[in-house]
Amino acid sequence: MLLPGDNTDSIATAADRLSAGGLVGLPTETVYGLAADAAQDAAVRAIFTTKGRPADHPLIVHVAGPEAVAHFAADIPAFAQKLIDTFWPGPLTLILPRRPGVADAAAGGHASIGLRCPSHPVAQRLLATLAARGIHGLAAPSANRFGRVSPTTAAHVVAELGDDLMVLDGGPCAVGIESSIVDCTRRAPVLLRPGHITRAQIEQAAGVPLLSKNMLSTPDPHASGTLLAHYAPQAKVRLMGARDLRAALGVLGADARHMAVWARTPLRSDSRHVLLRPMPDDADTAAQQLFAVLREFDAAGVRLIWVEALPDTPEWDGVRDRLQRAAASA
Ligand code: TXA
Ligand code: MG
Repeated sequence: MLLPGDNTDSIATAADRLSAGGLVGLPTETVYGLAADAAQDAAVRAIFTTKGRPADHPLIVHVAGPEAVAHFAADIPAFAQKLIDTFWPGPLTLILPRRPGVADAAAGGHASIGLRCPSHPVAQRLLATLAARGIHGLAAPSANRFGRVSPTTAAHVVAELGDDLMVLDGGPCAVGIESSIVDCTRRAPVLLRPGHITRAQIEQAAGVPLLSKNMLSTPDPHASGTLLAHYAPQAKVRLMGARDLRAALGVLGADARHMAVWARTPLRSDSRHVLLRPMPDDADTAAQQLFAVLREFDAAGVRLIWVEALPDTPEWDGVRDRLQRAAASA
């Protein structure tokens, strides 16, 4: 059931559903989430079963503002506070030491908690409404089935999870890929998942060096958004340089079937069965379109998706990360 997000009645209806332990599809500026009151373990467990996600994978808790952090976190390192001051509300998730006893199910039993304050106006209104009722946060993973592509429109959420779910329609997500995640439970910040906010921006705001996941001796095996084979469409994804793409399309000629190409370089195929979609030259625009393009290709029934390799510059880190993982799962 879709509700228009920019509507006071819809916000109240969604807030009632969440207060009563129900689930709601929630627009954020990154991707749509599947939300439940973070304090109700039974509601949070319903998220895991709805998604088909293993119960020890922790969920991000979404809050109305920085004032809610102290409810969930036991400690806020100075560099984490600087990241909050700089980037919230916005597409940045911080992993912080968890206050014992809060949001147990959302944390998947971990001693830490992922917190994020989304900037989407519908999410902001809903979270503020809930905060006024004493609900401090919404646990919400991306509203897709486990391992699949994240939804960036309300229609995608319905396609993933069915029409029975209440979904607030907040339009297409502006960012289009999931939040950057920074682990703040160690002495230095560690980038667990790249996103719209770049490494350099995070490092500058934190005022201390930002470590990478591969520098850790003990990577967290439960961070599913960081699993290699994740964000997978049904079709096999291959990343290829423009010259290889052109050559391969030339060799296949009119015989090419069941395939799609997403490339910045203009390409042509002699087969009308090849779906050719232009990739934007700008990384932020490409990110905004990425998951919708993969879904469109899947819906068209293609078996193979060829994607032009991305520029080797930091603003493409988020898109490159998602596509490399989509390619790894084939
Ligand atoms: O943009 C986003 O972050 C979206 C929107 C809905 O906010 N949410 C999202 O959630 O991408 P999800 O569950 O699909 O991905 C969250 C990632 C997972 O990789 C999860 O394992 C990791 O965050 N995570 C959450 N809590 C964590 C924790 N305490 N320690 C380590 N990783 C954590
Ligand atoms: Mg996800």
